Amino acid sequence: SQVVGFFGDHQAGIATPAQDRLHFAAFDLSPVASREALVELLTEWTNAALKMTAGQDVGTGAVTGDPSAPPDDTGEALGLAAAKLTVTIGFGASLFTDAHGNDRFGIAGRRPEQLADLPAFAGDALKAEISGGDLCVQACADDPQVAVHAIRNLARIARGTASVRYSQLGFGRTSSTTVSQETPRNMMGFKDGTANLKADDTDSMNQHVWVQDGDGPDWMTGGSYLVSRRIRMLIEPWDSTPLTEQERVIGRTKGAGAPIGRTKEFDPVDLDAQGSDGAPLIDLKSHVRLAHPTTNNGATLLRRGYSFTDGTDDLGRLDAGLFFLAYQRDPRTQFVTIQNSLAGNANDVLNEYIQHVSSGLFACPPGVKAGEYVGQALF
Ligand code: HEM
Repeated sequence: SQVVGFFGDHQAGIATPAQDRLHFAAFDLSPVASREALVELLTEWTNAALKMTAGQDVGTGAVTGDPSAPPDDTGEALGLAAAKLTVTIGFGASLFTDAHGNDRFGIAGRRPEQLADLPAFAGDALKAEISGGDLCVQACADDPQVAVHAIRNLARIARGTASVRYSQLGFGRTSSTTVSQETPRNMMGFKDGTANLKADDTDSMNQHVWVQDGDGPDWMTGGSYLVSRRIRMLIEPWDSTPLTEQERVIGRTKGAGAPIGRTKEFDPVDLDAQGSDGAPLIDLKSHVRLAHPTTNNGATLLRRGYSFTDGTDDLGRLDAGLFFLAYQRDPRTQFVTIQNSLAGNANDVLNEYIQHVSSGLFACPPGVKAGEYVGQALF
């Protein structure tokens, strides 16, 4: 079917199979927005998301409402299928406590400890204007027009209460999130998502992705924390790098995606394996070794990112990379632990070829039942 159900214990767009396209947007609340306006916005977003994910127009529709008023729906998805659209909503730390320490919406006391600001990592080149945000919406679909339509209509509904801080389009999911999906390739040409957590593995989802009872405030039980990082790839230097060096950097072969020294994609990663010369097969500074759970106290993530190519920059270089998205139960022991292993030129050799330029951390509340709005238990 073209429709991914909206209601459930968890928000769709996390454990549901990764679609091909992304439109991600971060929003800021207006400085004069009230608590009531925020609740109203979340209610309207929930209603609109419910309709759009079912392949229907928002409100009274694109052409079926009062002709003397601007249509409720912008219309560019008329005649298109639902395309497995999912809309996943998250709350940034600044929604709880703003930059001046103000509790604008009376929820500061309910901010989870897990929503602690991410530390600065070695090599970060973050731009504030494309980082953070009070709210985020991840819209994924198999049709780019459907994903863009979703964000556009949610932004339109938000007018007067919240506005888009930045948004990112993505294509070519860079992770397989279920065992039945074939592993896609990222913009470096490597299979990405081979060793990803699989969303159909309920035990590991409960252990590593879904917030459990007692982890923190109840309103987040069944939710998950999302880390977003726009990671620019230095495509031209990468493209001038010999194949064996590219493979050493990643720790896997480019063709099959097998761990170095093995032949098949799903052959196990054995960090102790040595070549005939006694040297480790998987380089000590390779991405796979440094990101692997055994290097990180067992930490792992549900990666659900997308490639991006936003044309070329003023030097004619491709402005391309990975819009990294990862869901987890506690970013402090998962993303932060792994990224600390990777970051900095002394570590992951991949850092010669990438640069993190934007960062976000969002608490994505659990799913809802009919009649509820996303995040209701927080208010
Ligand atoms: C594995 C690419 C950034 C975490 C991999 C693999 C590739 C890859 C090709 C091997 C295939 C696989 O198992 O999925 C990249 C690229 C990045 C990037 C090109 C940046 C542009 C990150 C970041 C993190 C991360 C920022 C988290 C902080 C992981 C993890 C694995 C992995 C946990 C699995 C390791 C294992 O268990 O074997 N990545 N990655 N990656 N990556 Fe990345």
